[in-house]
Amino acid sequence: MDIRVVVGDATAFAGDGLVVSLFEGAGERAKGGRVTRRLGGATAAVDVALDGAMTELIRAGEASGKWGEQTLLHTSGRLPVKRILMVGLGKPEELTQDRIRIVAAESARGLRKVGARRIGSIVHEAGAGRFSPAQATQALAEGTLLGLYRFTRYRTNDNHAKSIERLTIVERDPQRLRAMTEGARRGRILAEAANAARDLVNEPGNTLTPTELARRARVMARAARVRCEVFGPQQLRRLGAGALLGVARGSQEPPRLIVLTYRGRQGGPHLGLVGKGVTFDSGGISIKPAENMEAMKGDMAGAAAVIAATCAIARLGLPLRVTAVVPATENLPSGSALKPGDILRAMTGKTIEVINTDAEGRLILADALAYARTRQVTHLVDAATLTGACVVALGSINSGAFTNDQAWLGKVLAAGRETGERIWPMPMDAEYDELIKSDIAEIKNTGGRKGGAITGAKFLQHFVGETPWVHLDIAGTAESDKEKGYHLKGATGVMARTFAALAMELVAEN
Ligand code: BES
Ligand code: MN
Ligand code: ZN
Repeated sequence: MDIRVVVGDATAFAGDGLVVSLFEGAGERAKGGRVTRRLGGATAAVDVALDGAMTELIRAGEASGKWGEQTLLHTSGRLPVKRILMVGLGKPEELTQDRIRIVAAESARGLRKVGARRIGSIVHEAGAGRFSPAQATQALAEGTLLGLYRFTRYRTNDNHAKSIERLTIVERDPQRLRAMTEGARRGRILAEAANAARDLVNEPGNTLTPTELARRARVMARAARVRCEVFGPQQLRRLGAGALLGVARGSQEPPRLIVLTYRGRQGGPHLGLVGKGVTFDSGGISIKPAENMEAMKGDMAGAAAVIAATCAIARLGLPLRVTAVVPATENLPSGSALKPGDILRAMTGKTIEVINTDAEGRLILADALAYARTRQVTHLVDAATLTGACVVALGSINSGAFTNDQAWLGKVLAAGRETGERIWPMPMDAEYDELIKSDIAEIKNTGGRKGGAITGAKFLQHFVGETPWVHLDIAGTAESDKEKGYHLKGATGVMARTFAALAMELVAEN
């Protein structure tokens, strides 16, 4: 989809649909009969051109500006555009950047449903002045692209479904044009990163094998001018990646260690991104129940996020170094599979007693985190669909955050606030370490039912040394079970945008 910012009058926009917004409360003032003066600039101008049709709807109580409300009206030739979609912004003091993303997503889908291909919109900040024009435009572009996402690869008929070709953002003030154009560009880069991650997560396990994930990473990296290295079993043996190799033993598909590097600057901060890339998790010998096992094709959502984020950071041209490390494998049972009781030696030399083969994510991440450290990263963050326990604790609203460095966690939380991806800090007291002590090896890979998300994080901590690190458990947030706001049913692309925002945070500080 093409997005352009143009200077002009909203009433001059010609296309299939124009989105105008109003705050809640405009309706009450309408009862006093002064409504056109209370509507925002562009909205008011459209109302005048429509001979007060919008005011009339407000007066009749059919449009009130309430959050989430949509009212569609035809212009019947009074304006060059075919229809107007009035959207409610809610209370002015409650308008956030995330609400702008949501309203953009829902209005674009609303217009797509009636067959619109060329749509226009004003920026939804109308005098509220809480964000800059660049931020408001970024949220508008980002929300639109996120909200229009579809995964239609395997739906022969939907492949031809009508899609929106162009969004024209109309702005009166020529002085805002530059900032808004830059905002739209950022919004596009971030949304496209999340959508690319969604594509990877939605792809089924039979096509998205570790080898295919590596191939896709290579294609994406090349387009963004990022370096991509892929290591197979032979190199993994040389590296001593016994934990990743151990998990891969049950599968016919060879494991891959995918490493992306971006150099936006010599010296300075070096961000290490690590993402769990289990392309299908059956549980292995500790096999999962059949119910919902199909969802485990998405057990590489962390990998998708770090690959997409690295490419987005390169597109934004941010001045820092980034190394992304993705351990990719299937977790399957077979005659050669990893078994409970087996002992593995990770890349650092640490020995691990395998209690449950379904706790495979932490095993492969142990090697990936250790490998990232050999590349001299200054800051580490990982994303992983690691534990069902995290879903029990936080549901699908927040990702869980675990850290060894409060200052670095602060940056991650700030990045999440920036993108609207919610993150909740979880405890990491030393006492939890007791639960993963092994009688026979240095650590074991499960700590029982108590504090399952925390013991998972504690296990990972053994492989990050002193490097500032944040682990994000995205088991509950990587997929959505319903269409809502800028989320569709299926993959959310969670952390692709937040990791790009995190790189911006890191750059802003240094
Ligand atoms: N991939 C799963 C975690 C998961 C669960 C992701 C639900 C998404 C939705 C992970 O590999 C796993 O199986 N974890 C086990 C760990 C346990 C054996 C300690 C779990 O959560 O049950
Ligand atoms: Mn598992
Ligand atoms: Zn898993």
